[in-house]
Amino acid sequence: GEMAEERPVTIVTCTAPVNIAVIKYWGKRDNDLILPINSSLSVTLHQDQLKTTTTAATSRDFTEDRLWLNGKEADIGHPRLQACLREVRRLARKRRGGSSQEQAPLNLSYKIHIASENNFPTAAGLASSAAGYACLVSTLARLYGVEGELSEVARRGSGSACRSMLGGFVQWQQGERPDGKDSLAQQVAPETHWPELRVLILVVSGEKKQVSSTAGMQTSVDTSALLKHRAEVVVPKRLELMVQHIQEKNFEGFGQLTMQDSNQFHATCLDTFPPIFYLTDISRHIITLAHRFNAHHGCTKVAYTFDAGPNAVIFMLADTVAQFVEVVRHSFPPATNGDQFVRGLPVGSASLPQELLEALGTEPLPGAVRYILHTKPGPGPQLVDDGSQHLLGADGLPC
Ligand code: DP6
Repeated sequence: GEMAEERPVTIVTCTAPVNIAVIKYWGKRDNDLILPINSSLSVTLHQDQLKTTTTAATSRDFTEDRLWLNGKEADIGHPRLQACLREVRRLARKRRGGSSQEQAPLNLSYKIHIASENNFPTAAGLASSAAGYACLVSTLARLYGVEGELSEVARRGSGSACRSMLGGFVQWQQGERPDGKDSLAQQVAPETHWPELRVLILVVSGEKKQVSSTAGMQTSVDTSALLKHRAEVVVPKRLELMVQHIQEKNFEGFGQLTMQDSNQFHATCLDTFPPIFYLTDISRHIITLAHRFNAHHGCTKVAYTFDAGPNAVIFMLADTVAQFVEVVRHSFPPATNGDQFVRGLPVGSASLPQELLEALGTEPLPGAVRYILHTKPGPGPQLVDDGSQHLLGADGLPC
């Protein structure tokens, strides 16, 4: 309509991080509320390298709810997205309980426009649903003036998303209640706790993952006796140990347990019937390389972990990065010298001693690793103050 007829649009933008589990979540006891069969623990990654940005706008003039993902309009009717929207609005109503309608920052019945994008390619196969839902919930909460415990809401979008609501080292307590009120994320330590910790993501070549996490874990719960044993017996002990290793900044303990838990998660996938394969030959080459690298050094210098896909996430201390990147470059030489092989935080140069090269002993696999992203632990979701960063314009449409 005419400019003069337009009524104000309220706009909020937030960013949220990716997280990588070192004690894995795999399996639900309630599919609708997304309640897990075991607690899990993750490291929140820095948003300078990996983040989702979400803008939400609302106005009396909007005629329908609309959603744009990475610039393309998408279906806003997705049940998990609707669950998050409904829960944030419910908290907003609860909060405004006694207060009069005029005090409310805005009308909860106005239609909403949401735009969300990642600063990393979706095709890279890096888990984006955790950052996506954490960002959606953070943005909606700001828009509707809701504060406090929100991991419970993010959990309704994607289980792992509840852990992206906090920075640093984060535990998702499985909880006991059937209503999920105690199935929440808690910070174990802030991102400043272990300043030397670094993360390399090795993005490998190959097709997209075959089975989604949601579908895969359902089949695992239905068929894997190993998963049941893991959830009941193994994870409770490991969680306690992992928290201790983090508190003590014990890389030897942290690294070993991280690798063992990743391996057990993939073992439960193999124990699932029919079996699920997320690791590829390239993933297994990376595992072998890490163990040979550690054997050469006589201690745990690097620790890998893999989620529901073939990309490796490798933890190490800052003083190991340059040499390990050189090892990766040697073992998986870049296929093209066109685009950047090493991205993210700067990496120093290192030369590999002959003894190390012999210890690695593998034939190079050119092109198997597409690129390396260097990052570190980081903070939780952030409000974006700068209005020029909004993904929606004053008209409520993507800009
Ligand atoms: C292997 O959180 O993606 O990354 O709750 O069904 O959305 P849903 O699953 P999702 O599962 C993540 C599984 C994992 C391990 C982890 O992040 O803990």
